[in-house]
Amino acid sequence: MDETIQSRIQALGPWFHNMQLGGIWTAPDHFLGNYPEVKWRRYADALPQDLRGKTVLDIGCNAGFFSMQMKRRGADRVLGIDFDNDYLAQARFAAKVENLDIEFRRMSVYDVATLGEQFDVVIFIGVLYHLRHPLLALDLIHEHVARDLLVFQSLQRGSNTIAHVAPDYDFSETAIFDDPGYPKLHFIERSYSADPTNWWAPNRACTEAMLRSAGFLILSRPEEETYLCRKGPRPDPAYGPVYPAKGTDNA
Ligand SMILES: C[S@@+](CC[C@H](N)C(=O)[O-])C[C@H]1O[C@@H](n2cnc3c(N)ncnc32)[C@H](O)[C@@H]1O
Repeated sequence: MDETIQSRIQALGPWFHNMQLGGIWTAPDHFLGNYPEVKWRRYADALPQDLRGKTVLDIGCNAGFFSMQMKRRGADRVLGIDFDNDYLAQARFAAKVENLDIEFRRMSVYDVATLGEQFDVVIFIGVLYHLRHPLLALDLIHEHVARDLLVFQSLQRGSNTIAHVAPDYDFSETAIFDDPGYPKLHFIERSYSADPTNWWAPNRACTEAMLRSAGFLILSRPEEETYLCRKGPRPDPAYGPVYPAKGTDNA
């Protein structure tokens, strides 16, 4: 059995999630160490321990590490979605080895509306900065699939401080934008960490502002890049993903 698992792990690689399957590690030389376990251990206690009766959507599930943690906590239904078929094959194999009943489906975060379903817990970890349209993704998650909790993580770079931002500024005000604690989303035109899919690196203030702007209330920040949020109302429902329309259709 171990030999079969070993050869399947090799055939399905390379892996981004280092997990022990049948006693064999999937990514023992991960550049982040024992990832995701090392990160998970830092905030696992902040998430509900008992998920019986709950549904979970894991967006950008990769090889299913977080989906499996949620299933182990008793969630009724866990759906993992990812755009990458190679990662989904890993997730299906890992869940099978661990004997966990989880559905994995190929789907982009931009298509979550087609699920036609809301989930008690939405996991959106390690994906935002890989998207060319990050706020659109947060808006769609809020509008279509989040019912209650959002577990969110993003790579963060820049200042860790939070500037006091007034509700409005005069057009002549420019200095506020140079405050390191003003929300900033750094655009990565070429590549960062040898990964050309890293498009954005928000600072902490920006991460938190984007979550609020999409209608998520920040409950806690159990780890410096990780947030537990609750779905709330959008701060101003008039300003959604598109510029508000005015006038009559036939004008
Ligand atoms: C850095 S990995 C994070 C994986 C996992 N959530 C974690 O935190 O360990 C980013 C994942 O997002 C997936 N992804 C990227 N763009 C996506 C999209 N538009 N829709 C769904 N998944 C996407 C990638 O295939 C990859 O599995």
